[in-house]
Amino acid sequence: MAILVTGGAGFIGSHTVVELQNAGYDVVVMDNLVNANSKCLKRVEAITGKKVPFYETDIRDREGLEEIFTKEKIDGVIHFAGLKAVGESVEKPWEYYDNNITGTLTLVDVMRKHGCKNIIFSSSATVYGDPAFVPITEECPKGTCTNPYGWTKSMLEQVLSDIQKADPEWNVVLLRYFNPIGAHKSGTIGENPNGIPNNLMPYITQVAVGKLQQLSVFGDDYDTPDGTGVRDYIHVVDLALGHVKALKKLEKGSGLNIYNLGTGNGYSVLDIVKNFEAATGKKIPYVIKGRRAGDIATCYASAAKAEKELGWKAQYGIKEMCEDSWRWQSQNPNGYDD
Ligand code: NAD
Ligand code: UFG
Repeated sequence: MAILVTGGAGFIGSHTVVELQNAGYDVVVMDNLVNANSKCLKRVEAITGKKVPFYETDIRDREGLEEIFTKEKIDGVIHFAGLKAVGESVEKPWEYYDNNITGTLTLVDVMRKHGCKNIIFSSSATVYGDPAFVPITEECPKGTCTNPYGWTKSMLEQVLSDIQKADPEWNVVLLRYFNPIGAHKSGTIGENPNGIPNNLMPYITQVAVGKLQQLSVFGDDYDTPDGTGVRDYIHVVDLALGHVKALKKLEKGSGLNIYNLGTGNGYSVLDIVKNFEAATGKKIPYVIKGRRAGDIATCYASAAKAEKELGWKAQYGIKEMCEDSWRWQSQNPNGYDD
């Protein structure tokens, strides 16, 4: 029996495929490569020494999905496939709702047709909106999302919860990620954004490697210790290991479960700059700019529930997150392009 990883050629998906294979799972990957490069999977194979069966298919392509579920014995799905650029989702809401929501509805329909009712879904801390309290526990009420991307996550959580409620044969784990950074220790796989990065760490690494001139810090007048935004950065390998633990939970037939995957520590933008400089010896010039629309001051997790129920706790600290992000970027200045 195998685990289907949708979006498995992407940043978090590829790291999760490594940890699944290391844990002895048979894995099948599907991805339409809209935000990925198939070379990534060759590198995953080099890390694990195992083949990664790959289908270049879209989650909206019912026939493509049928082919996978007919040919492979799929026991459960880890569903990463989706569009994730916050700003782009404001410009192209239809494309985001179609890709993420139509895609997930199609996937789930094909799954149930084939009697596969186990799914782990990539959700996000974004569903908490401007959180009612920090550290954010899973009981924190969901909030108003500030962009269509966030709404797709919030809506899909509802869709999957309702499907599980109507048919208790479904086992659903909703994982709310905080801010994944870092890369595999080998430095051969990592985050590979298209164009100018939106997220903080890839922006910093591209400044460090000389592709970008300086970092813009979006606001220093927040109600935080140094005025810049505070987030819960988590090493992508820790995040990947969280999926392996969640899979064990799913295998026990556990109904609906929701977990935050974060470290419980908040770092400001300037904390990250300082830590990156200390870990890598690279200077990051920056300029303070105005706030970015839709940003919140502070967002960090309580990771207590995942520790108690899954036996999972993030192991890597900020130093290793910075070192590993830099190893990937410096060894691959152009990502997967030669
Ligand atoms: P990513 O873009 O690297 O990975 C997503 C993958 O899905 C890509 O490889 C892309 O090609 C593929 N994909 C997109 N649409 C598809 C479709 N219609 N059919 C098939 N494949 C498709 O992003 P990531 O950072 O690895 O994120 C993985 C998941 O985690 C996403 O669902 C994302 O929304 C969620 N998430 C990410 C973050 C983050 O900060 N990186 C935070 C919270 C949640
Ligand atoms: N920031 C800068 N300059 C930049 C980029 C970011 O100052 O060039 C700041 C932001 O204002 C924020 C912090 O760095 O204070 C982190 O920003 P990111 O864009 O890296 O991450 P976000 O917290 O905004 O959002 C990310 C993902 C979302 C996901 C969320 C979960 O982009 O998809 O984490 O917490 F939902």
